[in-house]
Amino acid sequence: MEILGGVSQLNSGLQIPLIGFGTAALPQNKDDLSKAVATALKVGYRHFDTASIYGTEAALGEALNGAFQSRVVKRDEVFVTTKLYAGDHEDPVSALKTSLKELQLEYLDLYLIHWPINLKKGSSHPMPREEDFLPLDIKSIWRGLENCVELGLTKSIGVSNFSCKKTEDLLSYANIPPAVNQVEMHPMWQQKKLRDYCTKVNIHVSAHCPLGSFGTYYGSNAVMENTVIKEIAQRRGKTVAQVLLRWGLEQGVSVLPKSYNEGRLAENYQIFDWSLTRDDHEKIGKLEQKRIVRRDGLINPTTSPYRTIEDLWDGEI
Ligand SMILES: NC(=O)c1ccc[n+]([C@@H]2O[C@H](COP(=O)([O-])OP(=O)(O)OC[C@H]3O[C@@H](n4cnc5c(N)ncnc54)[C@H](OP(=O)(O)O)[C@@H]3O)[C@@H](O)[C@H]2O)c1
Repeated sequence: MEILGGVSQLNSGLQIPLIGFGTAALPQNKDDLSKAVATALKVGYRHFDTASIYGTEAALGEALNGAFQSRVVKRDEVFVTTKLYAGDHEDPVSALKTSLKELQLEYLDLYLIHWPINLKKGSSHPMPREEDFLPLDIKSIWRGLENCVELGLTKSIGVSNFSCKKTEDLLSYANIPPAVNQVEMHPMWQQKKLRDYCTKVNIHVSAHCPLGSFGTYYGSNAVMENTVIKEIAQRRGKTVAQVLLRWGLEQGVSVLPKSYNEGRLAENYQIFDWSLTRDDHEKIGKLEQKRIVRRDGLINPTTSPYRTIEDLWDGEI
């Protein structure tokens, strides 16, 4: 399967690069991020994914700004995504202005509602307490994101961790449709239903945790250690990470691996000049499915809009 141009067209008119540089990293280290951004730009990465809650906007902004100043790359040659924290839903315009200041940017390429929950400002993350939740009104949050576009603060808007049902509800009142839904996706959580729906309504899917969040506190090693993927990688002379990421591209999504390691950044980018076979796809298609980033901490019996994990994901679990 040929992947043309390394970009995908968004309904906002922008093109999104198919490989993004993830920045959800703990512990945070500004120097590591800065070095990794310089390497990533050299390797060819043009899409940078952050979120106000990651605490990486400022370091990413400094590194990108350095690259603009030294003319390694121009602003309009990179695609920058950040996300609205659930404690800032009351005023997305102010939250985005703060993010832009951190990022040292005049505009964003993509601004996402990070999670379909509403929290009090400053609430604990990633495990909000019962008293942290506020009633959720996605319609009014979306109006705030639409304002961000109208004010020229961002070129595209979208959502993250939205099920088919939540996306469909949003489309019923959106004046500007979401350009992207960023969700967990890898061979062990393939998101077939959501991808089919998003294709039908012209929303691009971006895959977060494309390596199953290998080695992180919220992730799992099960994806990188899957024996079927390992066997394909060995047979094809590729690494497991390359097979996982190439599989994502061949599903028509963009992939957002995180690595601050020079060798792995380069390795993860070497996925454009070869393809998986039909046999590889058949084997991957049969893998048992398991959501890794379940976020059980977002459900509770009193204040959360979600009483059960099925409610949170509208049965997509
Ligand atoms: N929207 C959301 O709710 C959401 C949720 C989670 C993540 N995200 C976004 O998606 C990005 C990626 O997700 P993630 O960081 O959770 O997990 P991931 O990209 O699936 O996995 C990252 C882990 O894999 C390691 N790694 C990367 N390349 C590797 C390779 N070739 N071989 C072996 N190990 C490798 C990294 O370590 P090294 O750095 O040491 O290489 C890191 O520990 C995030 O950084 C963030 O930008 C979004």
